[in-house]
Amino acid sequence: MPPKTKKIFVCTQCGYESAKWVGKCPDCGQWNSMSEEIKLSEAPSKGTTAGIGAAPIAIHRLNQLESGDEIRIVTGIEEIDRVLGGGIVPGSVVLVSGDPGIGKSTILLQLCNPLGEFMKILYISGEESVRQIKLRAIRVGVNSDNLYICCATDIDTIVETIEAENPQLVIIDSIQTMNLTSLPSSPGSVTQIKECSARLIQLAKQREMPLFLVGHVNKDGAIAGPKVLEHMVDTVLYFEGERHLPYRILRAVKNRYGSTNEIGVFEMMDSGLGQVENPSLALLSGRPSGVSGSCVACVMEGSRPILSEVQALVSKSSFSVPKRTATGYDFNRVSMLLAVLEKRGGFPFSSLDAYINVVGGLRLADPAADLAVALSLISNMLDKPIDESLAVFGELGLAGEVRSVSHIQKRVSECYRLGFKRILLPKQSLKQISCDGLPGLELIGIRSISEARTIIG
Ligand code: TYD
Ligand code: MG
Repeated sequence: MPPKTKKIFVCTQCGYESAKWVGKCPDCGQWNSMSEEIKLSEAPSKGTTAGIGAAPIAIHRLNQLESGDEIRIVTGIEEIDRVLGGGIVPGSVVLVSGDPGIGKSTILLQLCNPLGEFMKILYISGEESVRQIKLRAIRVGVNSDNLYICCATDIDTIVETIEAENPQLVIIDSIQTMNLTSLPSSPGSVTQIKECSARLIQLAKQREMPLFLVGHVNKDGAIAGPKVLEHMVDTVLYFEGERHLPYRILRAVKNRYGSTNEIGVFEMMDSGLGQVENPSLALLSGRPSGVSGSCVACVMEGSRPILSEVQALVSKSSFSVPKRTATGYDFNRVSMLLAVLEKRGGFPFSSLDAYINVVGGLRLADPAADLAVALSLISNMLDKPIDESLAVFGELGLAGEVRSVSHIQKRVSECYRLGFKRILLPKQSLKQISCDGLPGLELIGIRSISEARTIIG
């Protein structure tokens, strides 16, 4: 007799189960997140509960534990190693997520080439055929002898295969296509994703085998499936970028073994993804000259300074509420900067439409880009181009003051290395800079945004 099943509704955000459909999840408060699933009505047997007769848990005194050396598997692709915090930790589970077609499968396949030199890799795809993977491998030049590929979606057989083949690294493309036949719900549902991941993660931890999972994103850009998936894995990497631009940015949003600030920059080419070793140079290529509304900002992405061009366009508004857009910078921050410029700098932006664009598809999170955004806006409003050899950084406060930022020396050195010999920066940061070995460098310190007008001309 087939097992009895019942229909339930599960919140795709938090996994809350309800017998009836509800518009708002009572647990996490998310609207319209309940999806229909099928569940076995008999609860599985619980096994022995902890308590009487259960084996005592071993506890350890922290100071007496041997730390051993931290072992990392260095992939040889520097941009990935940096994002992972210095290489792959054995037994760690990495979730790689991003928009469709951004290059998740490509980057993981390319990763197999250097890693295949010294370890056996099993690439399990639930999305493409073996032939398709082979064609892609030829295209991106992957020819490792240690790489094994297969197409499978059934987790039980995948686990058996892993146990029989004993690979040292497993890639699952993608977790949403995987399926446990003992569960009645369809692949991609909350229960399936949760249970399949739990099974694979348990196996990875037992065998000390690194595991890469590809995760799809939903239409809002979040990882599809339950939020718990992000809690279950050790590292969550997001692959982002504009589809029509060649640059791709790999960013760690969670990392149990490293910093979450680091980014890896890649370029999509005919032969797969290439590392961009000098992102600033790539992002600044094709900069217009002698045009107003363009300013070069120096921002920190983790431990690395990056130069990026910020463009602004302001025009007379034909609406009662002026239009504002911001691509690559926080919209609310741009609105705040416009208000500061109006009130503290005396620039009448309230009757003007304003558009901000960070060129190259980079999303700037560092508030040190404030000064560049403000200057590009002022430059375009006055229609006066900013000196092409000028790079700027500094945070703007609500009083119109230019505030100091972190890593001053690193930023200055990067600007200088790329040929920007005039640097506009917060005045109080000047004392932190040593100009040794930087001949011809001109530092301009300013205290408030009202002083910026003199720089533009
Ligand atoms: P893919 O890795 O399949 O994306 P995902 O797995 O994230 O869905 O990347 C597919 C895109 O990359 C596709 O639009 C074509 C492009 N591409 C190249 O431009 N060059 C290449 O060498 C490869 C393999 C893909
Ligand atoms: Mg893919």
